Amino acid sequence: MDLRGATVVVTGGAIRVGRHVAGRLAERGANIVVNYRTSAREAEAAVAEFRGQGVGSLAVQADVSTHAGVQAILDAAIREFGSVEVLINNASIYGPTPFDELDEADFDRNIAVNLKGPYLGCWLFGRHMQAQGRGKIVNVADWAVERPYVNYAPYFVAKGGVVALTRVMAKELAPAVQVNAVAPGPILMPADFDQETIRAVERATPLGRIGDPEDIAQTILYLVEGTDFVTGAVIPVDGGRTVS
Ligand SMILES: NC(=O)c1ccc[n+]([C@@H]2O[C@H](COP(=O)([O-])OP(=O)(O)OC[C@H]3O[C@@H](n4cnc5c(N)ncnc54)[C@H](OP(=O)(O)O)[C@@H]3O)[C@@H](O)[C@H]2O)c1
Repeated sequence: MDLRGATVVVTGGAIRVGRHVAGRLAERGANIVVNYRTSAREAEAAVAEFRGQGVGSLAVQADVSTHAGVQAILDAAIREFGSVEVLINNASIYGPTPFDELDEADFDRNIAVNLKGPYLGCWLFGRHMQAQGRGKIVNVADWAVERPYVNYAPYFVAKGGVVALTRVMAKELAPAVQVNAVAPGPILMPADFDQETIRAVERATPLGRIGDPEDIAQTILYLVEGTDFVTGAVIPVDGGRTVS
C-alpha cells in the first residue's frame, strides 16, 4: 500500500513506541491520527511536528476500551481526512499482578484495554475499510504470550487474545483488509526497571540486547507498505526470545 495521502490511526500514539511508529509513518507521507488517553501535551506536540513535515495530523482523546471511544476516533478521522486506510492497535496497559493479589477488577481492566480495544478497532475500522475495499490493521501483541512469565496473568491472557483476534479478523476481513500483528520483545523498559533487571533481560535475549522502537516501526512498515500478501501473521520482534 502506498502511504502517500493515506490516513493512519495509531492508538496510544503520543509517547514511547506508538509515537515512534507514528513518526515513521508520517515520513512516508501518511496523514496521522494520534489517539491518546492522558498524554495530551505529547499528542499535540506530535501533531505539530507531523504538520510541519507537510502531512495532515490530528490528536483524538479517547478511551479505546469503549465502543464510544473507538467510534469517536474513527468518526474524527473520517471527518478530517475522508477515510482511514491503516489502523495500528498499539494502546496498552502493563503491570504486574502477583497470583495472590489477583482480583476481578484487574482482569476486567486488562481485557478492556488490551483486548477489547483492539477487538473494537478491528470491528469498527475493519467495517469501514471493507466498505472502501482496502485497509491494513496491525495489532501489537507480545512475544511472551508464547512463553509467559509469572506475575502478569491478566496481561498475558489479554495479549494472547490479541493473537487469536489477529487470525480471526484476517479471515473475517479478507480479501479487502489485511490483519497482522507484531509481537515485541524487550523494546522500551518500564520506567521502574532497575539496571540489574535490565541486564537480566539482556542476558535472556539471544541477541544480547534490548531492541529499539525502530525495530517495531520497520516491521510495521513492512506489513503496511512492503507486501499486500501477508495476513493473519504474528511476527516476533524480540531479539530471539521466542526461541531461547
Ligand atoms: N515496551 C516494550 O518493550 C514492549 C514489550 C512487549 C510488548 N509491547 C507492546 O507494544 C505496545 C507499545 O508499548 P509501549 O511500552 O510504548 O506502551 P505503553 O507505554 O505501556 O502504552 C502506550 C500507550 O497506551 C495508551 N493507553 C493506555 N490505556 C489506554 C486507553 N484506555 N485508551 C487509549 N489509550 C490508552 C497510553 O496513552 P496515554 O499516555 O495517552 O494515557 C500509552 O501512551 C503495547 O501494546 C505493548 O503492550 C511493548
